[in-house]
Amino acid sequence: MQNNIISGLFVGQNFVTLKEVDSTNNFLKHLVSNSKPVIEGTVIMAENQYAGRGQQQNTWNAEAGKNLTFSILLKPHFLEVTNQFDLIRVVSLGVFDALEPLLGDALKIKWPNDIYFGDLKLGGMLIENMIQGGQIKNAIVGIGLNVNQEVFGPSLPNATSLKQILHQDYDLKALLSEICRHVEAWYLNLRAGKTEDVRKVYLSRLYWLNEMRWFKTAGGIINGKVKNVCYNGLLVIENTNNEELEFSLKEIEFLNR
Ligand code: BTN
Repeated sequence: MQNNIISGLFVGQNFVTLKEVDSTNNFLKHLVSNSKPVIEGTVIMAENQYAGRGQQQNTWNAEAGKNLTFSILLKPHFLEVTNQFDLIRVVSLGVFDALEPLLGDALKIKWPNDIYFGDLKLGGMLIENMIQGGQIKNAIVGIGLNVNQEVFGPSLPNATSLKQILHQDYDLKALLSEICRHVEAWYLNLRAGKTEDVRKVYLSRLYWLNEMRWFKTAGGIINGKVKNVCYNGLLVIENTNNEELEFSLKEIEFLNR
């Protein structure tokens, strides 16, 4: 345990840096399952993550030493399992608020939890909830953010980094500290019952909100607007007949054309 860089009440107060690990989410999950109690807010950061995992069984590739790959342990016992999407909201908002002073208006949250600058992906998160007895016992909040990486391979055509956007290097631990501070603030808002505020602000930060765009769905390609996100995380698209359609992550793809 070491920490002289992360301020705040509990997120990052127990801070561990690893030179190399398969996945910080895996590491934290094993720690929670195998050993003595691990305190809420523990952060595991890796300089090199060689088998990082992304959403929908994808891999997460990040050049060693140049990016942020870390996981936070949260214990949202207060949160109903049916409202677990609120955790995605607060973490997305925390990352957003940490980056907004650097990136301004082009920064967006692409539903459900990608961090976008313009049409390019800057980061993402993988939140794995461990549910026991109808309660979220532990949430492993994995965050990957492209920071000082200058080149992305052809398999990542829509990736970008702070370095590509702002042409300077950033101190990884200073940035991590800002993210922890803002995630903690939003998490405490949720814990204090400010759910409507969390949902409203999350919605207002969304990529393509109220813009007429194209989407690929099982029923074909549709034209419509991002209108809302249900309490349970389903995306609401209003089509050209003013009908509201709801989609899960596997059921819809955003089309840039
Ligand atoms: C995505 O956009 O697909 C989610 C990417 C999440 C990547 C992070 S990096 C730290 C943590 N450990 C992992 O294996 N994945 C998450």
